[in-house]
Amino acid sequence: MSNRLNEQIDKAADSVIKFGNICALTGAGISVESGIPPFRGQGGIWDKFDPFEYAHIDSFMKNPAKVWDVLLKEMKQTLDKAKPSKAHMALVDLESLGLLKTVITQNIDGLHQASGSNDVIEFHGNFANLSCLSCDKAFKMSEIDIRSMPPKCSCGGYIRPNCVFFGENIPFEALQRSHEAAVSCKIMLVIGTSATVQPAASIPITAKKSGAIIIEINPEKTALSSGISDIFIQGRASIIMTDLLKAIKL
Ligand code: OAD
Repeated sequence: MSNRLNEQIDKAADSVIKFGNICALTGAGISVESGIPPFRGQGGIWDKFDPFEYAHIDSFMKNPAKVWDVLLKEMKQTLDKAKPSKAHMALVDLESLGLLKTVITQNIDGLHQASGSNDVIEFHGNFANLSCLSCDKAFKMSEIDIRSMPPKCSCGGYIRPNCVFFGENIPFEALQRSHEAAVSCKIMLVIGTSATVQPAASIPITAKKSGAIIIEINPEKTALSSGISDIFIQGRASIIMTDLLKAIKL
């Protein structure tokens, strides 16, 4: 490990020990090592599929069969196989140490809950829960058979996953709770997000304005890295989070 990287990890560990009260904001990057591709960058989902054709609510309402067949079926197959990574587990450890309160995630994969985090705000909803567009009946993704697409309710209505499509609002409670977490934390740990999608991308800015120290972990620089992040640690989430946890426990 380079000296510079070591220094950044030690600096981050010192801040965590001194202030505690961490809120984590996670994006697709934290799940890359769980086997889920990110949306942007190398191997990104949006390189393969046009998000406006497959992830906009208008496209889904116009042609649910097409969106299920092309994007959602593949997502289900990927998410069904995914397991929490060392980075997800490190957040659980920080919670057990009494240093982390809340995880705000843009991810719809449920991996924070699967790893054992207790307070998770799902900013973009959850792919595991679905509902009928006509009668609102609830379903679980495990009940969905990918051999008969698109899935339909017994009432005849199409079934949708309860994740936020482009063109839809963020669930009000998630918005409100995230704001509260951002203004009350002392440290915001931003892991694996390109910070390009609003309003999630503004959460670290809100935290910073309220006096929090922003620690960012990402293999690539983002819009936050130079102006907003106080400590930018360049690297993969599992490796950096494991090293950060070690430095905190020393
Ligand atoms: P993106 O795909 O935009 O960004 C993923 C980030 O993870 C990039 O900055 C990568 O450099 C970084 N990354 C890649 N591998 C990593 C690793 N091993 N460890 C840590 N970081 C890594 O994902 P998000 O920022 O989460 O919206 O995207 C935000 C929203 O855009 C998503 O929630 C989704 C999408 O359209 C909806 O579904 C509504």
